Amino acid sequence: MQRVEKLLSDQVSQQEVRVILRELLKTAAVPGDVVEFGCYVGTTSVYLARELQNTSKQLFLYDSFAGLPEKRPEDNSPAGEQFQPGELHATKKELIRNLKQANVPLPKITKGWFCDITPEQVPPQISFAFLDGDYYDSVRDPLKLIWPRLAPGAIVVVDDYANEALPGAAKAVNEWTKTHPVKRLKVEASLAILEV
Ligand SMILES: C[S@@+](CC[C@H](N)C(=O)[O-])C[C@H]1O[C@@H](n2cnc3c(N)ncnc32)[C@H](O)[C@@H]1O
Repeated sequence: MQRVEKLLSDQVSQQEVRVILRELLKTAAVPGDVVEFGCYVGTTSVYLARELQNTSKQLFLYDSFAGLPEKRPEDNSPAGEQFQPGELHATKKELIRNLKQANVPLPKITKGWFCDITPEQVPPQISFAFLDGDYYDSVRDPLKLIWPRLAPGAIVVVDDYANEALPGAAKAVNEWTKTHPVKRLKVEASLAILEV
């Protein structure tokens, strides 16, 4: 596995990147492509792209490139008051610069709010997904989009599941898995790992 060194931002920890890559590797033989919803400056994307560079899998990245949207009641937490609309704003240019500097193949990048992404903008089959939109809607909307596309054996990793500052992420996952059962839900660091 790749060495995880100095990260481009503090939005994920080195331990989380290692877990994400370990889970990604488990899906190497699962058919389909890889998606990240909420890529920001590409902290995790550069590692995903490097891992996929000599495979037939393509990486698809999605972000508003306008930062976080408005919260809804499910997202409110006294521990998360620093998260405001427009926070975590990165430009597509900045992301591309980081990917180029990392010398990885350029992924397919889609700019837009997750609620406006259409099924045509999502790969037909998905083997691995990393969801890092922080909020209830920003996790639930990608779950809705990707679920019909997940191949048997696919893995979905959701960031901030165990982060009390961002309670919407866990609420979205818990609600979703009630009606869309998974084989296994594990929690490691702040990540939920869903085996489908
Ligand atoms: C925590 S950051 C992602 C960090 C990134 N995964 C990394 O490794 O650097 C959250 C990102 O999700 C994006 N985002 C959150 N909710 C969104 C939504 N509903 N639609 C589009 N982008 C959204 C924000 O713009 C921000 O870039």
